[in-house]
Amino acid sequence: MTQTNELKPVLMFDSGIGGLTVLREARVLMPERGFIYVADDAGFPYGDWEEAALKERVIALFAKLLKEYDPEVCVISCNTAFTLVGADLRSTFPKMTFVGTVPAIKPAAERTRSGLVSVLATPGTVKRAYTRDLIQSFATQCHVRLVGSQNLARMAEAYIRGENISDEAVMAEIAPCFVEKDNSKTDIVVLACTHYPFMANVFRRLAPWPVDWLDPAEAIARQTRRKVPLVDGAEHPDSYDFAVFTSGNPDFATRRLMQGFGLKA
Ligand code: DGL
Repeated sequence: MTQTNELKPVLMFDSGIGGLTVLREARVLMPERGFIYVADDAGFPYGDWEEAALKERVIALFAKLLKEYDPEVCVISCNTAFTLVGADLRSTFPKMTFVGTVPAIKPAAERTRSGLVSVLATPGTVKRAYTRDLIQSFATQCHVRLVGSQNLARMAEAYIRGENISDEAVMAEIAPCFVEKDNSKTDIVVLACTHYPFMANVFRRLAPWPVDWLDPAEAIARQTRRKVPLVDGAEHPDSYDFAVFTSGNPDFATRRLMQGFGLKA
C-alpha cells in the first residue's frame, strides 16, 4: 500500500489567483492531499493573449512543472487556458491526468427556465472554438449571450487584494449579461472565469434582477476527487501546500492571500 509520506500533491494552475476559488472546494473534498498552487502571474491576464503564443507558453511551462513537482494530477483551474490548450496538454503529457475547467454551459442550459443564459468570461474564452462547440452541443435550445469582459479578471485581483473597485466599473462589465426578450429575462449567468466567483457578492448586489451565478468550482473539485485515489489512513503531508509564482515576485497582499488559503508563498 502507498505510504502516507509518498502521497503526491495536486497541482492547481491558473494565470493568477482565480484557481483559489477551485482550491478552496478541493481542500474540502481532499483533506489528505497537499496542494501546489501555480500562478502564471508573469503571463497574467491570459484573456488578451494571442492563441498560438499562449498555447506554446502553457505547454513549455508544464514541461517544467511536471518535471519539478511530479504531481498526482493537474487541475487547470482556468477557462482561458483549458479551452485553448487542454487537448494539447493531454496529448503532450499522456501519463499525466489533467482535470479541466470549461464554461458551465451544459448545466446552465439544463437549469434555465427562461431559456436566456449569459456566459461571462475573458475575451479569450468567448472567442474559443471550444466554447462555441459547447453551445452547439448542449444549448441550441437556449439563447446564449457570450460576454467577453476586458477588465474583470484584473478587477477581481485588485478587489481581493483589498483595493477599491467602483460599482460603476463593475456594472459596465456585467451589464451586457442581462437580456430581456419576449417578456423573458436572463436567469443564469455562467461565471466562466475562475476569478469571478470572488466578486459574486458584488455582482449579486448590482444585478438589475436576481439571477443564478453559476460557479463550477465544486464540480471541478468533485471531478478531481474522482481522479485522485483515496489512500487508507493517509494524512495530510507537511511537504506541500505552497504557491509558485512565475514572476518569482508576488506582492505582499498576494502572499498574505496565499497564507489565508493555507499556502506558503
Ligand atoms: N482565471 C482565468 C479563467 O478562468 C482567466 C484570467 C485571465 O488570465 O484573464 O479564465
